[in-house]
Amino acid sequence: MALSKINPTKLSSWKKLFQQFNKENNYHINDFFKEENNRVEEFSINWNNFYLDFSKNRLSNNSFKLLTSLCEETNLKDNIEKYFNGSIINETESRAVLHTALRSSENDEVNKALNKIINISDEINTGKRLGYSGKRITDIVNIGIGGSHLGPEMVTEALSYYSKGIKPHFISNIDPDFTSKLIEKINPETTIFIIVSKTFTTIETLENANKIRAWFIDNASKDSIKDHFIFISNNTEAPKKFGVSSENILSIPEWVGGRFSLWGSVGLVISIVIGSENFKDFLRGANEMDIHFKSSPFEKNIPVVLALISIWYNNFFKCETEAVLPYSQFLTKLPDYLQQASMESNGKSIDRNGEKVNYETGSIVWGSTGTNAQHAFFQLMHQGTKIIPSDFIAFKRSLYGDSKQHEILNSNFLAQTNALMLGKSTSGENIHKNIDGNKPSNSIVINKLDPFNLGSLIAMYENKIFTIGSILNLFSYDQWGVELGKSVAKEILAGKDMDLDSSTRKTMDQLKK
Ligand code: F6P
Repeated sequence: MALSKINPTKLSSWKKLFQQFNKENNYHINDFFKEENNRVEEFSINWNNFYLDFSKNRLSNNSFKLLTSLCEETNLKDNIEKYFNGSIINETESRAVLHTALRSSENDEVNKALNKIINISDEINTGKRLGYSGKRITDIVNIGIGGSHLGPEMVTEALSYYSKGIKPHFISNIDPDFTSKLIEKINPETTIFIIVSKTFTTIETLENANKIRAWFIDNASKDSIKDHFIFISNNTEAPKKFGVSSENILSIPEWVGGRFSLWGSVGLVISIVIGSENFKDFLRGANEMDIHFKSSPFEKNIPVVLALISIWYNNFFKCETEAVLPYSQFLTKLPDYLQQASMESNGKSIDRNGEKVNYETGSIVWGSTGTNAQHAFFQLMHQGTKIIPSDFIAFKRSLYGDSKQHEILNSNFLAQTNALMLGKSTSGENIHKNIDGNKPSNSIVINKLDPFNLGSLIAMYENKIFTIGSILNLFSYDQWGVELGKSVAKEILAGKDMDLDSSTRKTMDQLKK
């Protein structure tokens, strides 16, 4: 069964939202606090180890109610059901979208694949699986791009506190200098290479894998490839040709999209680095968020509320971007990861009826860690002409127990959301120091940066992305735009006599000079 195919702009809640927006778009967030007695209680959600406060938004209670009616009118509840029950919701590729099944141990195929991940990671971490010369494995190199890279890199860094000792490295870009530099640092005797490509047609990954293979043969031997290389792919022939033994080939089910694949075999590097018990906790945390998403009423449903706020700013205030600002240096790669998850999913302009949309779709996602970002781009957020809706993410406790410095970090988190909203009036002394405030933010407070909570956090954003796509009538799980660039690059590389425009042709000539 397919997802509903409703143009949201034709619905009565959308029309009423416009009327409401026209009435209140000049209000200051302060006014909402004055008028709505229970604003903080009504605009906050306490769930498991999470607390979301969305009261600091340019959104009245009336508008929020209309946004939840939009969920009803677009059949969000039914659509969520179809997402989780394996309906073919990726219609343009005739596929189900079931990455959520990778974290809900109900399925035999999933459990079998998970056991393989656990076995490999346990064997490496306990020293049962050694390098070809009998030495313990010390390093892992993950070769893959996009969904086969961003999630594993982000999570291994985010959870580096939980590391069992193996050092991860990532080769994604086709930049020969980067790969050559990395090779200088590693020893083939003690390094395992994981080649990750769902399709095994991605040129960057194929080229990097071949470069590493040639280096490995020169510095170790062809025969040892079978023990030092692991393939994660649903192409079964290519790994065999490469020389990999069949027990070192893990598959990616067709119903798992690249950008949502870190929960399964693509997450092998995560499981090796943090250990299989922590990896299972990571999956459990994500599954708990899925249960919350499936079962909570819209107004108390964290992913749904975040999605509605995003649609509100994107379509009514015409904000083009939204920022993700984690107050943890370990989450420095979260914005990059969310860029792919979100922008590859909802960056579309044709709706599920095959018609050109007449409203705004995917927002531009960007961000950086606090406090670093405060000393970089926050000036524009405070005094610029743009409204930048943002998610501020903080953790209650420091991992190493340095509560004194952690308090400084979290004071900054609090100070920024407060200052963005309230601003500061200088009553005429120096107009340049005047700060209007009225800048929106969500505050997400999480107990601790651990595998379970990180799993919940990523699943929260995945489910937000689904909700936005569902309401905006998009097919969120294909990426035809990216496919075009890939095929043009191949033709240029092959020197095909193409119908290139004059600008590209001239630039090509310059590159060759
Ligand atoms: O960037 C486009 C894309 O198709 C992503 O969706 C995917 O994660 C990435 O390329 C890598 O694809 P593969 O795993 O097949 O090499």
